[in-house]
Amino acid sequence: MSATSAATAADRDIVIDLRDVETRFGTHVVHQKLCLQVRRAEVFAIIGGSGSGKSTLLREMILLHRPDAGSIKVLGVELNDLSPEAALDLRLRWGVLFQHGGLFGSLTVLENIGLPLREHTRLGNKLIDEIAAWKLHMTGLKPEVGAQYPAQLSGGMMKRASLARALALDPELLFLDEPTAGLDPESAAGVDELVL
Ligand SMILES: Nc1ncnc2c1ncn2[C@@H]1O[C@H](COP(=O)(O)OP(=O)(O)O)[C@@H](O)[C@H]1O
Ligand SMILES: [Mg+2]
Repeated sequence: MSATSAATAADRDIVIDLRDVETRFGTHVVHQKLCLQVRRAEVFAIIGGSGSGKSTLLREMILLHRPDAGSIKVLGVELNDLSPEAALDLRLRWGVLFQHGGLFGSLTVLENIGLPLREHTRLGNKLIDEIAAWKLHMTGLKPEVGAQYPAQLSGGMMKRASLARALALDPELLFLDEPTAGLDPESAAGVDELVL
């Protein structure tokens, strides 16, 4: 393989590419000249104190916040100036576990997990429930948890249920915001294992 084609293959492996990202809220500078690359099959962790800009960076990578400067490419797509159609295409290729779970309180766990499938596929209700039950099982939750509401779950169960929903559309990329924060050591180890 020539040096050029090797470089191209390596470039194709980059699933997240941030260049010189800057974020400010008023005069408060959160990110400055921030560059990072994440490769396919990599588990990439960002560690930093509370308020250091981790969630904001994640929100920028999933099209919920626009940086003040710099470039963000996810799955080879530059996020600046995306059409609404292209943005939706991209959103369907990743799953997100939000810091506070983000489950809908008025839906059962199974309904929460099935929601992305209901919104974005033409699958029938029976099949959606079967897939949702499988995702629930994958995350180590018992089948009966599917009928419960988010308010009835422990912290660890809530993270697992959120992870199951993030996995609903078989995403190419998973974003996890503090997947184990606030969990007891045993639950945290369980979630880590699950992610791996
Ligand atoms: N919408 C916003 N408006 C103003 N300031 C914000 C907003 N979102 C985040 N910040 C500020 O940006 C900084 C980084 O926050 P955040 O990304 O949530 O940190 P972390 O996730 O690392 O704890 C904090 O100082 C926070 O107060
Ligand atoms: Mg945060």
